[in-house]
Amino acid sequence: MNKNAAIGIFDSGIGGLTVMAEMIKALPNEEMIYFGDLARTPYGSKSKETVLKFSFEIVQFLISQGVKAIVVACNTASASALEDLRQRVSIPIIGVILPGAQKAAEVTQTKRIGVIATRSTIATGAYVKAIQSLDPQIHVISQPCPLFVPLVEEGWLNHIVTRQIAEEYLFPLKTNKIDTLILGCTHYPFLCDVIQDVMGNEVTLINSAEETARSIKEILSDAGLLCIIRHDRKHKFYVSDESTRFVELGEQFLKEKIRVITQIDLGKGNPYV
Ligand code: DGL
Repeated sequence: MNKNAAIGIFDSGIGGLTVMAEMIKALPNEEMIYFGDLARTPYGSKSKETVLKFSFEIVQFLISQGVKAIVVACNTASASALEDLRQRVSIPIIGVILPGAQKAAEVTQTKRIGVIATRSTIATGAYVKAIQSLDPQIHVISQPCPLFVPLVEEGWLNHIVTRQIAEEYLFPLKTNKIDTLILGCTHYPFLCDVIQDVMGNEVTLINSAEETARSIKEILSDAGLLCIIRHDRKHKFYVSDESTRFVELGEQFLKEKIRVITQIDLGKGNPYV
């Protein structure tokens, strides 16, 4: 495998850019190819089978672009599809669930961890499984927060409505006295101020994006696949629908310019499937 090949990253849309932003910080020499499935977002309300089908199409596309590893930068796709995807491809492929679960299991003192995510992610039980495989004594309290994604995409990060919704969603987690809370969705790190405020400072928030970036760095390093020096790093972006809002929001998420962006159709007649 070529060390200089890019790392593939994908998400249902824009949220995976929060993971990519952390990867750029942790791996500044690496070139990345991002795929955002704008035509079929959100994944968070779709069935496991549908999410697996979409994810496999994207993985085949990324492999056709010669990537050396793939990061499933979407909690819903990681929860629904990662295990199957791993059986179908031969390059390293990691998701965002295990890195977040590992960090949470490491920091909890009371062994009471909360997880907030999309409905689909919670329904798979993937976080509970991952945490309890690390420590069966840990009690996990899960809470879907489906309104958080549209609130972030609307830019209502500190809006009064966001605060009220957060209080409603987070109430069961507060009464269950967790000491650690996993932000189990790509968009939720943007709401960390409101979430921290509602939960109180004694609760530690876990950002899966940071943990995933650390994890892919370790995997590439162990496999001897880190690109050491690059002078012409140019990330590429592919989307499956019109991209004006993606570029607008994406540049805020990434804190850098999105220069090369291409719209492609992964549906019927897709040459990559
Ligand atoms: N990226 C998704 C996740 O992390 C959130 C958006 C969606 O529902 O597609 O679960």
